[in-house]
Amino acid sequence: MVKEFILSEHAILQQQIESAIIRQFAPEDEGLRAALSAAKEAGLPEIQISPIQGKFLQLLATMCNAHKILEIGALAGYSGIWLARALPADGHLISLEVSPEHAAVVRNSFARAGVGDRAEVRVGKALEVLPQLQSEAPFDLVFIDADKSPYPQYLDWALRLTRPGSIIVADNCIRGGRAFQPTEDEGTAGVAEYNRRVTSDPRLVSLALAMDDDYTDGFAISVVKYE
Ligand code: SAH
Ligand code: DHB
Ligand code: MG
Repeated sequence: MVKEFILSEHAILQQQIESAIIRQFAPEDEGLRAALSAAKEAGLPEIQISPIQGKFLQLLATMCNAHKILEIGALAGYSGIWLARALPADGHLISLEVSPEHAAVVRNSFARAGVGDRAEVRVGKALEVLPQLQSEAPFDLVFIDADKSPYPQYLDWALRLTRPGSIIVADNCIRGGRAFQPTEDEGTAGVAEYNRRVTSDPRLVSLALAMDDDYTDGFAISVVKYE
């Protein structure tokens, strides 16, 4: 089958390009690698963002001169380490995590990666913790990556807790294309509604980008407009 042959050649080329980009632009250091092995040892699911996504978050944080970052969904701290490293010495990352077991792994990984001074994990259901963050707002960047069905509510909170010029990023907004089709799955429905809201809200400029390790999922990125 000529077509399959061409597709697989293309897939190989794509992988080679991705590896080269990671090697040159987004290499993992000891702290990031340790966070991944600690996650594995603790039996956590391997659903972290990719190195390219991590470096992309750093790029966005730098673009908006982020001093305060909010993450919803910490897992083992991998994305949090990428984010915290984009902060200046007096910057602060608050990462929300519902599981105390995950949070314990995160705290170790933050310390080991040298960001324990500026990165903090708060344990609780995000929808219960978010209302307590108003006094610490505005955040310059919000990264949403927890359970998927409340994504629209997380967006409401992100809008309350940001300022014009802030960036709001959500992971898993493509889901192999299922986020753009009718769906029975609650999580996918949450993400689909998130996409509709960020593309129709006049306060935001938004784009979804396929950028995970096989380009079937990725971020929806939004900027809060100035006017
Ligand atoms: N951002 C991480 C991956 C997060 S995985 C990374 O890329 O490294 C999703 C995480 O969200 C899990 O650890 C899960 O326990 C947490 N989570 C799920 N529901 C949540 C909720 N309601 N509030 C806070 N955290 C939640
Ligand atoms: C899942 C969650 C994620 O945040 C992700 O990036 C990949 C998978 C999941 O719940 O299956
Ligand atoms: Mg995710």
